[in-house]
Amino acid sequence: MAKTLNIGLVGCGFMGRAHANAYRQVGPFFDLPYRLVLKACYGRADNRDKLEAFAARWGVESVETDWRQLVTRDDIDVVDVCVPNHMHHDVVVAAAQAGKIVLCEKPLAMNTAEGEAMVAAVEKAGVANLIWFNYRRVPAIALFKQIVDEGRVGRPFHYRAVYNQDYTIDESVPQGGRALWRLDAKVAGSGVTGDLLAHSIDTAEWINGPISQVVAATETFVKERPHAETGEVAPVAIDDACMFLARFANGSMGTFESTRYARGRKNRNTMEMNGENGALCFDLEDPHVLGFYRYADPQTGRKVEDHLAGWQRIHVTNFDHPYMDKWWVPGCTIGYEHTFTNTLADFLTGLHDGSPAQPNLRSGLRTQLVCDAVLESARAGAWVDIPA
Ligand SMILES: NC(=O)c1ccc[n+]([C@@H]2O[C@H](COP(=O)([O-])OP(=O)(O)OC[C@H]3O[C@@H](n4cnc5c(N)ncnc54)[C@H](O)[C@@H]3O)[C@@H](O)[C@H]2O)c1
Repeated sequence: MAKTLNIGLVGCGFMGRAHANAYRQVGPFFDLPYRLVLKACYGRADNRDKLEAFAARWGVESVETDWRQLVTRDDIDVVDVCVPNHMHHDVVVAAAQAGKIVLCEKPLAMNTAEGEAMVAAVEKAGVANLIWFNYRRVPAIALFKQIVDEGRVGRPFHYRAVYNQDYTIDESVPQGGRALWRLDAKVAGSGVTGDLLAHSIDTAEWINGPISQVVAATETFVKERPHAETGEVAPVAIDDACMFLARFANGSMGTFESTRYARGRKNRNTMEMNGENGALCFDLEDPHVLGFYRYADPQTGRKVEDHLAGWQRIHVTNFDHPYMDKWWVPGCTIGYEHTFTNTLADFLTGLHDGSPAQPNLRSGLRTQLVCDAVLESARAGAWVDIPA
């Protein structure tokens, strides 16, 4: 008999939609011992129409305009945090204290100190928890990790990640408010570092192990912007662009680049790794494809004959590829929204088996630590060590 889990969504914007869709999809596509009920969702009181329309569209049973009310309701089992970053700490701590299962969007927090308090709260309460670094569940990225773990890349030399967008180039774009809170440091914490590079760092450490040192540079191209809510022109305190060099504990080197000023790039998330035996590359603009360059067999050490060497374009849609046996038939692609469904399926499987899925909030804290070190390095203009 499937156990019912009542979900409380805190936030009903972009991620509210992505998660609501995952809760609806996960049951029919994965074999799980849970029945998920979208019990309640929170949205701002000044936008109640949107909140009610969201609840009606996604079949959420009730609405709340006070998130504290939602997280303490007896009929809520899971609190899912999909609000801007400055709220993550308070919602997560209150949910943990109320004994709820906690799922939280990235970045974990505004800074490491907040993140530590959040991890302490979920660990003290002993509640299951997860941070939504959903890109780990792109089948081609999961295959990237599998191939590295199989030793087919061998000793790693280079890891390079890019995460670029272009939506803030126009100087008239305001900061703050409902749609553009990502430009307001008081709400977002940081700019591209916490928003985009957090994803790249999470994926990089998952695939290539811990980063031990970073040196970074950031830039804010438009120095002042009007605030959407007050109209006041105020200095922009977030990083519009961030680039950093990294040393990984395994001896390899990394480069990371992120900007919201890469004209033509909407959500370009790429990664490449070059090792002794081979190389891998991925580009989210071509999400079902993994590039693999095979140089030598890790078992025998035998090299691929020169005339056959070349990049292989793996169409990651076979039943043998991560997650793909749960969706359609070989050759049929899946998309962005499935990464959330795959994440949720792994979380629920771990919850049932007692083998908690990663990344949990403690992993999110690790990424937060690296983000903070990157920003500290940019301020200091010096290499910063990152504790193991
Ligand atoms: N995993 C991913 O790939 C991914 C993608 C996008 C966003 N996110 C994260 O999800 C969280 C939510 O982002 P989103 O894109 O869904 O945001 P959004 O602006 O689309 O939605 C925000 C929600 O929070 C509510 N809210 C409460 N206080 C607010 C305030 N002061 N300003 C703005 N909204 C407020 C809004 O009513 C709305 O329901 C953020 O932490 C973000 O970093 C993650």
